[in-house]
Amino acid sequence: MSNWIEVGQVNDIPKLGARVVKSLRGDIAVFRTADDEIFAIVDECPHSGGPLSQGIVHGKAVACPLHNWNIDLETGDVLDPDHGCTRVIEVAITDGLIRIFVEAEATGTHG
Ligand code: FES
Repeated sequence: MSNWIEVGQVNDIPKLGARVVKSLRGDIAVFRTADDEIFAIVDECPHSGGPLSQGIVHGKAVACPLHNWNIDLETGDVLDPDHGCTRVIEVAITDGLIRIFVEAEATGTHG
């Protein structure tokens, strides 16, 4: 079986927007930057669990909608002056189709 989950086309996500993908380990936020780069991170702010998918994307970072911590979309690290990190999810794009890598036990299927 494959652990790669199809998210949709790059153009399905608005620039500076996000789409949420459900997994058994929690929601994953898939972001599109102004430069059409795609990043995926766990949709949970390391501060108090804010929904990062609803944050504001700027450059390669997202500002959490709850208390405005900034999280680097490439590394998952919280930017200064705050500290912490959230998990980055691997992304692959083929012919505009986005796929993200989710561990087998988190996809809800077996085999
Ligand atoms: S929950 Fe994200 S900054 Fe507080």
